[in-house]
Amino acid sequence: MIADRYAVVGHPVEHSKSPWIHARFAALTGQALRYDKLLAPLDGFAATVARFRSEGGRGCNVTVPFKFDAVAMATTLSDRARLAGACNTLRFDGAAAFGDNTDGVGLVRDIEQGAGRRLAGSRVVLAGAGGAAAGVLGPMLQAGPAEVVVANRTLPKAQALVERHAGLARTLGVALQAVALDAPLDAADIVVNATASSLAGDTLPLPVSVLRAGTLAYDMMYGAAAQGFLAWAAGRGAEPRDGLGMLVEQAAESFEVWRGVRPPAAPVLRELRALLQAG
Ligand code: ATR
Repeated sequence: MIADRYAVVGHPVEHSKSPWIHARFAALTGQALRYDKLLAPLDGFAATVARFRSEGGRGCNVTVPFKFDAVAMATTLSDRARLAGACNTLRFDGAAAFGDNTDGVGLVRDIEQGAGRRLAGSRVVLAGAGGAAAGVLGPMLQAGPAEVVVANRTLPKAQALVERHAGLARTLGVALQAVALDAPLDAADIVVNATASSLAGDTLPLPVSVLRAGTLAYDMMYGAAAQGFLAWAAGRGAEPRDGLGMLVEQAAESFEVWRGVRPPAAPVLRELRALLQAG
């Protein structure tokens, strides 16, 4: 059988775990597919994807910094991709390209099933208002929290993100507001770090009052990039969780978008964590 081709397209892309994750999903579901890494030049996303399609590519994941270019390439968009303004998944159906965003549902699943926390009825603080935060806010609202506070260093960016989601929040009955990152905050059930602060080597100036014993402190990154925030939160009684589960869950959702088959995320997450700890 000739394997269908998929890839992750990014810049950089060398350290992506997606080929490993999708190879495990393919093995566990008996799907014949090949999944590669594609490094696109910063000004060459469209050309790189066009070449991949001409060589038989059936779909791709899209990572930094091309998630906005992927929206422009899509001929149809899922509601969640339109709301996010970004695509991390493209499926090629002949000349058409379906654009989706599986990051938010990946985060929600990892919070609910991986960490065993209920988003429904909870108080959530989402730190950050860039692409990573925009990718997850819609699905988080859909999970039915009582309240979501978007806290960002640049307040107008948080306000713009909240404004874009205000209609959805109203419909769902979720209280949604924007604040500055260092504004006083009451304790939350779940705090999600969607900023790039630790990449910049900075600590996050969130007030300590946002944490109480047992708050789930979730960093959407993993490895060294997540350590600053997670150590800060764990030192104050919160339960830390990195974004490795989100990575596997968003991949599982993309796999289903492409193949119509749901792969098992939990065992693949356990394997990946063991691999990273060993390496
Ligand atoms: P991404 O796609 O990873 O979200 P981005 O769109 O550049 O990248 O957004 C980066 C996010 O991290 C923003 O919320 C940014 O805050 P600003 O909107 O004020 O720029 C946040 N961020 C980056 N460095 C930060 C730092 N040192 N402290 C606090 N927030 C930071």
